[in-house]
Amino acid sequence: MRTMSIPMPDPMAIDVEQCRAETPGCSNVLHFNNAGAALPPQPVLDAQVGHLKREAAIGGYEAEAEAESQLQHTYDAIARMLDCTPEEVAIVENATRAWDMAFYAMPFEEGDRILTSRAAYASNHIACLQVARRTGAEVDVVPHDEYGQIDVEALRSMMDDRVALLALTHVPTNGGLVNPAAQVGEIAGEAGVPCLLDACQSAGQMPLSVDEIGCTMLSATGRKYLRGPRGTGFLYVQKDWIERLEPPLLDLHAATWTGPDTYEIHSDARRFETYEGHVAGAVGLGVAVEYALTLGLEAISERVQMLADTLRTALSGASGVTVHDAGRTRCGITTFSAEQKTAPAIQMALREHDINVSVSTPSSTRLDAEARGLPDLVRASVHYYNTEAEIERFVSRLKSVLKG
Ligand SMILES: Cc1ncc(COP(=O)(O)O)c(C=O)c1O
Repeated sequence: MRTMSIPMPDPMAIDVEQCRAETPGCSNVLHFNNAGAALPPQPVLDAQVGHLKREAAIGGYEAEAEAESQLQHTYDAIARMLDCTPEEVAIVENATRAWDMAFYAMPFEEGDRILTSRAAYASNHIACLQVARRTGAEVDVVPHDEYGQIDVEALRSMMDDRVALLALTHVPTNGGLVNPAAQVGEIAGEAGVPCLLDACQSAGQMPLSVDEIGCTMLSATGRKYLRGPRGTGFLYVQKDWIERLEPPLLDLHAATWTGPDTYEIHSDARRFETYEGHVAGAVGLGVAVEYALTLGLEAISERVQMLADTLRTALSGASGVTVHDAGRTRCGITTFSAEQKTAPAIQMALREHDINVSVSTPSSTRLDAEARGLPDLVRASVHYYNTEAEIERFVSRLKSVLKG
């Protein structure tokens, strides 16, 4: 007798229909700009708007006091996502400020070496160059391997006593590359050198355990793959490092004025924050992180990768189109150029059809763009709430845009 195999429901699977139903923007736009700012789900929107309404109804400070447990929840949720403690988390206004607060707190001296990668983001690299000019530290770029990711063996051979920081961009702004952060973290750990991971583009689209990665500091933003509010970001600093890092800026929240000539800096990661902040955003950020944790970052990563692979394959078959994503492991971001039209022209033409993408310019990742001779690129970044039908529609519209 033939036995019929009944497919088992995949416990990891994401209920895409439900996620779309909970995302108001899905009915307006085909949104492939998740690496710019993802569409927030309704619970995130409700949390933010709810808080703003309380601010208007009872006063900003009073609403903040009322939201104390929600604010604490944001630290707790981020800590669960990163596998750290809430005391190791600072909530700030964006990923750049998070990164800066850690980076500018490092006591660089003449002769120190800052190792970075070809995928470095413009703002971070500008900061490295500024600090190098100010202090006489050196910025050295670790080469990439044949896959276009950081060359781990080259990095190992570049380590010496002068290396003061290893700064790695996990996922660059200009493509799907996922740098092997855990291998880099291991090398940093062996050498006792702090590792600052820019997880701006990876937070919310893949698991991000700071323990497994072995990074000392990590910066991220709320609005991208986490689907949180704009104007939110966070910094993780490993507890043994917090008191070794004196923030470049202090206020009465980061430090306490203890006497006319004295102050004490907060002993936890709050030292990297400021007093005034975007409270509704911070509340919404916690809801966004919880939303991602409930779906599961493994499941999110699996679906995002599957959709991005489908998109890349479809784009590779389109005449005149070149996909530029590097890396052995690739994520939800796809960048491409086309012979027929420039990236800004493609972006504008797609926008007329309510299709959102962004443009990645060479100046945002100059080291990589110059090494590979990249022009302006169209960046199409998918999230788990996107669908295969949207990919088909996207590619078909792109083909007609390129013909027109
Ligand atoms: C790799 C990377 N790092 C940092 C940032 C900066 O993030 P934010 O705009 O939140 O400061 C970006 C933004 O696109 C990015 O792509």
